[in-house]
Amino acid sequence: MWQFKRLGYVGGLFISMMVITACGGGGGNNAPSLSTGSSSSVSSSVSMSSSSSSSATSSSSTSSVSSSSSSSSSSVVALKSLVTTLGFPIGVAVGGPGDSDNLFTNTMMQTVVNTHFNSLVAGNIMKMSYLEPTQGNFTFNDADALYNYAHANGMVLHGHTLIWHADYQVPGYIKSFSGTPTEFNTALMNHVTQVATYFAGKVVSWDVVNEAIDDNNPAGWRQSVFYVKSGNSNVFIENAFNAAHAADPGAKLFYNDYNIEWSAPKLGMVLSMIDDFKNRNIPIDGIGFQMHVSLNFPSVSTIQASLQAVADKGLMVRISELDVAVNSDNTLTALDANTASLQKQRYKDIVNAYLTAVPKAQRAGITVWGLTDDKSWLNTSTHTDWPLLFNADFSTKPAFDGVAEALAAGM
Ligand code: XIL
Repeated sequence: MWQFKRLGYVGGLFISMMVITACGGGGGNNAPSLSTGSSSSVSSSVSMSSSSSSSATSSSSTSSVSSSSSSSSSSVVALKSLVTTLGFPIGVAVGGPGDSDNLFTNTMMQTVVNTHFNSLVAGNIMKMSYLEPTQGNFTFNDADALYNYAHANGMVLHGHTLIWHADYQVPGYIKSFSGTPTEFNTALMNHVTQVATYFAGKVVSWDVVNEAIDDNNPAGWRQSVFYVKSGNSNVFIENAFNAAHAADPGAKLFYNDYNIEWSAPKLGMVLSMIDDFKNRNIPIDGIGFQMHVSLNFPSVSTIQASLQAVADKGLMVRISELDVAVNSDNTLTALDANTASLQKQRYKDIVNAYLTAVPKAQRAGITVWGLTDDKSWLNTSTHTDWPLLFNADFSTKPAFDGVAEALAAGM
């Protein structure tokens, strides 16, 4: 079994290319909240032609969504028009300055994003070293621009992420911190507090801690710089949830991780943490399933059961970074029709599993991790994949139709 998540991390590759530059942005009104009611006001203000939106929303027939294998975005239904009755936003991760998929400089990308999505998340520019590159010096310009963009276009902004171990975005002052565990937690919580305070009322939800569970040793906490400098303790996790809640009581707070849609020990850690946090009144609102999956693994029934296990705890559930890798064995040189069709069914099954497992009131949304295949984080110098909903030319793929069909048929 090939787990591409491991590949992703080997891809420490991404790293050195990141730069931080400033970018301006405009203001706007009427961003929706996470709640069921407000997302409908968004989609009604959106720019798809009314004929295509209404045909999809008024019918659960799959044929009304799209039938071609590759369509220009002007002829297909707007995804966000399909979630108005489902109770959650539909989102996409976008790049900023320094990323290849920089939303601010690509008008075609803007058109497609604005047409289909009502939730944005930063692929990189809200991670630690982007917001606090040196201790106490915060650089909010790019994130501000993203918030302004989302707000101006009637979208919510999900914050990703306050604490994550990936080396390229851990600031130097964290790596070299030499004080006591208590002093370390004070410095780390200053990041959480400052950032969550700054974006209070703007970010609707946060990935407070990302990937704190080790899947080499699935029953344990990752021995990250945060864990080690906390005195070999996971105390930084609860501290972060407490600090984020104190800074922005209105934001929904998520723990986010990968492989929890299939790894029983890893999911078990998440479920135990939920119980523990509930018992001790640590404020956690939900769990983000990154859902970086491939065509054949894990099974849909396993995914659905994992989503259900969290939903049964009463928490909100996000699919936070959805993509479906099709080239796990590295044999494809292009996306052939058969693979594209299997990928369509896979996306449809996953969205359907979410709708089936998670009660409406607990749905916090589905976000895909990138817009077009050519810009996916899964592409490296030695691996090409086609994991997303749009082709490089921004036309929709069958995968898009799979999502649209599942949403259109959903309740
Ligand atoms: C990825 C970004 O998409 C890349 O641009 C970057 O080089 C590395 O990080 N899990 C996460 C995301 O939580 O933040 C990661 O994003 C993908 C895996």
